[in-house]
Amino acid sequence: MAQPTFSTHLGMVDILPGEVEQWHTLERIIHEEAKKFNFEEIRTPILEQTELIARGVGQLTDIVSKEMFAFERGEDQYVLRPECTAPVARAYVEHHLDQRGGTQNLYYIGPMFRAEKPQKGRQRQFHQFGAEIIGAQDPAADVDIIALMMSIYDRIGIRNTTLKINSVGDPESRKIYTKALKDYLRPHLAELSEISQKRFENNPLRILDSKEQEDQPIVDNAPVITDFLTDETADHYKRVKALLRELNISFVEDPHLVRGLDYYTRTAFELISPDLGAQDALGGGGRYDLLIEEIGGQPTPAVGFAAGIERLLIACEELDIKLAEEDMLDVYIVTLGEKARSWAIKHLPRLREAGLSASMDYIGRSIKAQMKDADRENARHVIIVGENELSEGKFVLRDMKASEEVALPFDDILEELSA
Ligand code: HAM
Repeated sequence: MAQPTFSTHLGMVDILPGEVEQWHTLERIIHEEAKKFNFEEIRTPILEQTELIARGVGQLTDIVSKEMFAFERGEDQYVLRPECTAPVARAYVEHHLDQRGGTQNLYYIGPMFRAEKPQKGRQRQFHQFGAEIIGAQDPAADVDIIALMMSIYDRIGIRNTTLKINSVGDPESRKIYTKALKDYLRPHLAELSEISQKRFENNPLRILDSKEQEDQPIVDNAPVITDFLTDETADHYKRVKALLRELNISFVEDPHLVRGLDYYTRTAFELISPDLGAQDALGGGGRYDLLIEEIGGQPTPAVGFAAGIERLLIACEELDIKLAEEDMLDVYIVTLGEKARSWAIKHLPRLREAGLSASMDYIGRSIKAQMKDADRENARHVIIVGENELSEGKFVLRDMKASEEVALPFDDILEELSA
């Protein structure tokens, strides 16, 4: 066979028939759970202004400094969105969604793009579902966001997860903590990995997140941000934890949890799965009370999460969770001869109008090949049409599972199948 000439780009994956059905089920569950929690769907463009992402996510993050798919066209700078929080915040400001009153509870499902090195659970085009509550400062919002995320995994049956939480502070606590962290790290600088040494000046908090072996003993003994929180932020964190306990949502506190995006303030969380290998975060999120002002809106508190669909599907596979039933076809019409084929094409609409899924052979295959095709399509029933059937006005209806046949007029078949 000739080699195909074209293939997808590195880290970009086709979702083929047979796989797509699982996505449908998952999307349905997300829509249903979001509705229960009173969230409305929002769809923003795939392309955003590069400056929005740079300012929103943060210039020094890996996402902005290394992983953007960005290009220019005329005067404009475009980027394929690497995440959807900054785009949703932009839409909130641009369309004055605050004027609708109350908090805005928004959710989304869609593709995101990051030029990362692909590996299991890490793609360059991947899909997220996520939700944001914009306009609420209260810890109840943080907890409702976490509850929505957890309820989706719970419905699917993924329950062996660990919810890690932390408070990454507000600017005031962060300033004092950053100084304390740098003072602690400075004498160890030469022992740190190259990447952590680079982060020391501009982004020392990310050193806590390091996966490098040589950094671990140093990171383990580092001061923790939760010891440096202002009273108000410490109280917020305390109330988030108390509410989670009241809702029986178990969590572990991880004072080294820092997220890869710069907009977080106060609550940060990640949902970890033991079934994913190195890329073990199913989802993550937190509070971002300064982002909306940062991109030109009024100061507006907000909190949200996003989760990777591909990683969720890997976890399902590991746990042997089947998201979709095998697709069945209600009726396949097997035809013998030209006349039978035109009869079939005319009668397919009546089956479909009755709510049945129905198909036929279009390419004049033998009866045997058509029966095989019906099998491959998982047909529940086959209607067999030939010259004799047409002249008698009765057609063979075969129940494929029971291997039973009856000869009936078409109207009776329709009645029987739609019963
Ligand atoms: P994030 O932690 O960057 O957060 O991404 C959320 C989830 O998206 C990850 O936990 C992971 O499951 C999935 N993900 C990220 N990158 C990849 C990749 N390259 N391949 C496959 N899956 C990936 C955010 O994006 C924030 N916007 C979350 C948020 C919403 N914070 C507040 N609101």
